[in-house]
Amino acid sequence: MSFTIAIDGPAAAGKGTLSRALAAHFGFGHLDTGLLYRAVGARMLLGEDPIAAALDLDASDVQMEGLRRPEVAQAASKVAAIPEVRSALLDFQRAYARRSGGAVLDGRDIGTVICPDAEAKLFVTATPEIRARRRHDELAAQGADISYETVLAETRERDDRDTARVDSPLRPADDAVIIDTSELDIDTAVASAIAAVLERQ
Ligand code: C5P
Repeated sequence: MSFTIAIDGPAAAGKGTLSRALAAHFGFGHLDTGLLYRAVGARMLLGEDPIAAALDLDASDVQMEGLRRPEVAQAASKVAAIPEVRSALLDFQRAYARRSGGAVLDGRDIGTVICPDAEAKLFVTATPEIRARRRHDELAAQGADISYETVLAETRERDDRDTARVDSPLRPADDAVIIDTSELDIDTAVASAIAAVLERQ
């Protein structure tokens, strides 16, 4: 059987944490689709044409070091606005979604474009300030020298670019369950995500 859970939302809202928890709970595979765009963005920063990079992306690209760096995140959201980049990554994501045993995909357009027929759709969000605070804490823990204000400005810039683009903008699918994690601790957010999926089973 195949069962797809689509998880969308802006950066640092908690999609990754919830996706990993849902995949573990249901025994499903998990694809972080942001890594595909980050890998293309990283290759663009190395001087490659992003469309060519997207067309020959392979597993070793998503294992590149440094894909979590802020400059790679910005590059990812730039290449993600190019329709040819998005279409080059489409088949891989759809094939993953149909894998037997179930799949969780997280990104920006999973419930709207990649898997409009997903059995369960979640849209995970939180205020920009809280998301920037979480991302800043993560970066600081890794020893990065970046201010909260810079992280907040970059978070807003990426939100604006992801929401305003013409091809597959970030938005909740009409049938998505919205989970606002601004005031939720991790356990409560995970419990409400599991409950939302069980309602669709
Ligand atoms: O989720 P993550 O922060 O790793 O995504 C990096 C960038 O990749 C996002 O800002 C967005 O522009 C792009 N992206 C996308 N569609 C997806 C996943 C990520 O456009 N499904």
